[in-house]
Amino acid sequence: MKIKSVFFIICSLLFSTVFAQNDPAIIPKPKSVKLAGGNVSVQDIATIVIPKKNAEIKKLALDYAKVLGLGKYTFSEQEKPAFAKSKSLVFQILLQENKAEYYTLTVTKNGILVSANDPKGFFYALQSLTQLLESNQANEKFLPFVVIEDEPVFGYRGMHLDVARHFFSTDVVKQYLDLMSRYKMNYFHWHLTDDQGWRIEIKKFPKLTEVGAYRKGTQLGHAHDAKGQKGQEDYGSYYTQEEIKEIIQYAKERHIEIIPEIEMPGHSSAALAAYPEFGCTGGPYHVESNWGVFKDVFCTKDTSIWFLKEVLTEVCDLFPGKYIHIGGDEVPKERWKACPRCQTIVKRQGLKNHDELQSYFIEQIGIHLFNQGKKLIGWDEILEGGLAANATVMSWRGTQGGIESAKQRHDVIMCPGSHCYFDHYQSESIKEPLAIGGYTNLEKVYAFQPVPEVLSKEEKKYILGAQGNLWTEYIPNANHLFYMAYPRAIALAEVLWTASSELNYKGFTERLNSHMLWFKKNKIEISNAYLDLGYITKSNPNGVEFHFIKPPIDGRILIETEKPEEGIVQEYAEADSFLLNQNVDFGAWFQLQDKTLGRALRLNFQNHLAAGKNIQLKYNPSIKYPGSGAQCLINGFSAPTHKFGGSEWIGLEGDDLHATIDLGAEKEFQTITIQFYQANDSWIYAPEELKIYTSKDGEKFDEIYDYKLPLSAMKIISPEIKLNQKTKSRYLRIVAKNHGMIDETLPGAGHKAWLFVGEIKLE
Ligand code: ACM
Ligand code: ZN
Repeated sequence: MKIKSVFFIICSLLFSTVFAQNDPAIIPKPKSVKLAGGNVSVQDIATIVIPKKNAEIKKLALDYAKVLGLGKYTFSEQEKPAFAKSKSLVFQILLQENKAEYYTLTVTKNGILVSANDPKGFFYALQSLTQLLESNQANEKFLPFVVIEDEPVFGYRGMHLDVARHFFSTDVVKQYLDLMSRYKMNYFHWHLTDDQGWRIEIKKFPKLTEVGAYRKGTQLGHAHDAKGQKGQEDYGSYYTQEEIKEIIQYAKERHIEIIPEIEMPGHSSAALAAYPEFGCTGGPYHVESNWGVFKDVFCTKDTSIWFLKEVLTEVCDLFPGKYIHIGGDEVPKERWKACPRCQTIVKRQGLKNHDELQSYFIEQIGIHLFNQGKKLIGWDEILEGGLAANATVMSWRGTQGGIESAKQRHDVIMCPGSHCYFDHYQSESIKEPLAIGGYTNLEKVYAFQPVPEVLSKEEKKYILGAQGNLWTEYIPNANHLFYMAYPRAIALAEVLWTASSELNYKGFTERLNSHMLWFKKNKIEISNAYLDLGYITKSNPNGVEFHFIKPPIDGRILIETEKPEEGIVQEYAEADSFLLNQNVDFGAWFQLQDKTLGRALRLNFQNHLAAGKNIQLKYNPSIKYPGSGAQCLINGFSAPTHKFGGSEWIGLEGDDLHATIDLGAEKEFQTITIQFYQANDSWIYAPEELKIYTSKDGEKFDEIYDYKLPLSAMKIISPEIKLNQKTKSRYLRIVAKNHGMIDETLPGAGHKAWLFVGEIKLE
């Protein structure tokens, strides 16, 4: 590897085309694709052969004809349809059991043969056929000779949508379903109620929507930002039962089952505002305008459970699917502890604690759903006081809840925040629209493995699949929604359909290109952040080694410095790394021929005494927020202030920062500046205590500073610690105390606090 100065390098790179590909651009990638030379003109197809008296296939065949753009054609109904000599589109029904989603699609000079066991299979074959036509960009009227055999790995391939924080019209929901079905996803988890709005008409309790669907104002920006103020406009809407039926029918035609979610016992402010008698205190309550977790939850008394059962009866009657989601996440127990009626239930049921009270509550609801012929799904907190019989668990706080549930022989749907929360940032660029936080880029989603290796073969069977979650606190409109969901949902769709041995990120992004064009043609603006340039840094005796991370496609990197005399764009072909050892601003971007792909990186390197030196951490950052490793703490790049997560912040879950820096030789310094993030609404707490030690030998450390940080509502706490006198040392140790377990009164109660650390600057 060559290392030169920033002004003399960059970048290898070939000029081959992005579009070169062997496989047709079908996503998710089918199980088997065998291309044979040659192609057939779809316009020559004049006959559609269908099985006798099968209205469902006849209806599907009309969709095929539309996709193929067939002009004139005739239907031929046969007992056992087979390929005829003249060019035709033939539908064959197979008789394999438990293979409803299986299909084969064969294109020869005779036309197209589609075989499946069930309308689902024929529907998925149609999606593949559509993409096969699209991927022939030169001429969509020709199909290559091919044999495709296909079926999914996972039975549950889901997308979630929160319509409580922001409401989305039925047209937007339909578009959401269209896109899901294009990528063969089959469960739509519709989050219909929350603190900020009740969005489903319940005829027996009209105030749920008359009162509960409307809030006074909406939080704008993060609570931990100075700009976390409230928009004053009243906000609200809901779906009538007629509209919901229309959406259910729409989903059914796309082979998508809808899972409605009615949140309980927490996230219930909107319901309680409408019917305060079902809370512990009796209210008054209001529909929340801010985001977060709220103390007021449903009381566990019999009348509250009666109310929820009545609501669920209507919901069960409306939705034909087998699952009903009852929430169960983030339930503060404060009100229950102080409530005489809840305490009566604790005594009556002989419960040991309030987790068991929650389990009792969920169990009652589960029995009711069972009696309605339904299955209960809940977020992983429903494990806490014992799982209700037959409950399916959605594992969102990592995969551990899913692992425990599978071990207890309960079905699991994986959606850990680390890989499946599409409300997170997907790029490091400061140009990204506001997001809730985190960092989940396309490659990370694609790397998700829904089935944890720690499970036995038997236990693994309980992992039904996974889903992408779209919480909409920071997603106010449809454009933003599709930008956040796509293309991440496409990556997840492939993870869930295609065998893991066939998953290859580079191949995926090559196929994705044709899909990006499709979105553009259809005027749906989605994110191309996967084409942004990234970087990592490494320690080096002479400075900070800087390496670009290129998108997984061919192209070249261009770099520009902001020094006027060097402000011209320079492209370098040779290496993809260089050494930084003086302050510099620079920009870099990735381009193919004359076209810039993704967004530019703009970076400001500030050299300091620790930059590029060695650093050891006693406690590793969480795998959820690893930054780019410990080195990112002393690489001369400040962590961005607009968000936590990404390559410059590390996140420690419950652990202290305990960093030892080796400066390589004795150095003199006086000022230490450290970036900490403060976002209590995201369970991130800046440290309140900080100690600094020096050592000559790396063995014996002397405390030189004990610093109490003032509690502050600031987002970035960046104490500049000025020592009384210049200090000489080779080793420096910094210990910042984690806030620890979060108590009842603060956001994240009962969880370990996060400690986020950015740059440690030594001068
Ligand atoms: C969740 O994200 N509170 C399930
Ligand atoms: Zn109560």
